[in-house]
Amino acid sequence: MKFFNDLADFEAAEINDLVAFARDLDQRPQPRALEGKVLALLFLSPSLRTLASFQSAMTRLGGGVFVISPDMSIHSIEARSGIVMDGAAAEHIREAIPVIASYSDAIGIRAFAKRERLSYDLEDSEFRAMTSLVDVPYINMESAINHPCQSLADWKTMDDLGIGTHGNRFVLSWSWHPQPMPMAIPAATVHMAALRGMDVTVLRPQGYQLPGTIMARAQEAARASGGTVTETADRDEAMQDAQVLYVNSWTSQHHYGDARAEEDFKHELRYWLVDEPWFSPSKKNCYFMHALPARREVTVTDRILDGPRSVVIPEARNRMLVQMAVLHRMLSES
Ligand code: CP
Repeated sequence: MKFFNDLADFEAAEINDLVAFARDLDQRPQPRALEGKVLALLFLSPSLRTLASFQSAMTRLGGGVFVISPDMSIHSIEARSGIVMDGAAAEHIREAIPVIASYSDAIGIRAFAKRERLSYDLEDSEFRAMTSLVDVPYINMESAINHPCQSLADWKTMDDLGIGTHGNRFVLSWSWHPQPMPMAIPAATVHMAALRGMDVTVLRPQGYQLPGTIMARAQEAARASGGTVTETADRDEAMQDAQVLYVNSWTSQHHYGDARAEEDFKHELRYWLVDEPWFSPSKKNCYFMHALPARREVTVTDRILDGPRSVVIPEARNRMLVQMAVLHRMLSES
C-alpha cells in the first residue's frame, strides 16, 4: 500500500479485509512486525485521538514514531506559495515536509481545511500539494475534505455492532457547534456509509446542505453498492427505523470563510442538540456515533453520551486497531 488517502481507493472486499486484519491484530498481537520501521506524524492541526492512536498503533507493532507539530520548538513554518519570507516564518513547508519524510518509512499528515475558499478545500488542494512533496508512503490523518482513518474505524465499529450493510438506515446529522467546523468528517462519513450500501440520510437544517460535489460522490458510491443517499430537514422522517445516528457539525457552504455571518445565521439553530427524543421515531435499536471531540450539552446531551446508545469509546479505540492494519500493510511490504 503506497498511500491511505481515501476509502474510495479500495474495493469493499479490500476494506472488509483490512477490518478483519485489524480484528486479528487485536486478538493476536504482532509486537515485532514493524521492528526497525519509523513513522513520521506531521500535525499542522490539533488532535487527541489521531495523535495518540497512531503512536500506540506503531508502538504495538514494534516500530518507532516521531511527531512534529507547530506547538513544538520547531521553526515557524510558512505554507503559502510564492511568498517573500521576510516575516516570522523561518522555514517553508516545501523543505520541511520532504526533510521530515526523509527520516521515516511512512508519513501521516493532518492539515484541516483553511476554510477560505470552498472550491480549494473541496479539491483537497493543500493536502495534494503536501503529499506531492514526499516519496515515502503517506497517510491522510484528516485533510480539508477527507478523514479515511475515521471512516475505516467507523466501518469496523458498525461491523462489531452487527449493523449490516444493505437496507440498514444510517443517519448523518448536523448539530450545533459554536465554531464553523470543517467538512472532512461529514464528507468522509456520508461516502463511507454509501460505500457500505446503507440507506443514508443526511439530516440538516436549511442552509446546511452538504455541497453538491460531496453528495454526488456519495450518490455515485451508493449506486455502485446498492445503497441510497437522500437528505432532509425533517428529523422524524430521517430517524424512522434508523440504526445509527452519526453526529457531526459542519460549516455552511453559504457562509464559507465568513465566521461572523455564519454565527448570525445559525443563532436560531441551538435547538439542534442531540437528545433522547431524537431517537423516538426509530423502531430499531439506534446507536449514537461521533468521531469526537464532542461538546457536551452543546452538540449532544450527557445522557446520550453516557447512555447505552453511545459507542463513541469503542469507536475511538477502533482508530488504533484499523491504523495498525493500515500500517502493517503499508510497511511490512516495503
Ligand atoms: N476523531 C478524530 O480525528 O479525533 P482527533 O481530532 O482528536 O484526532
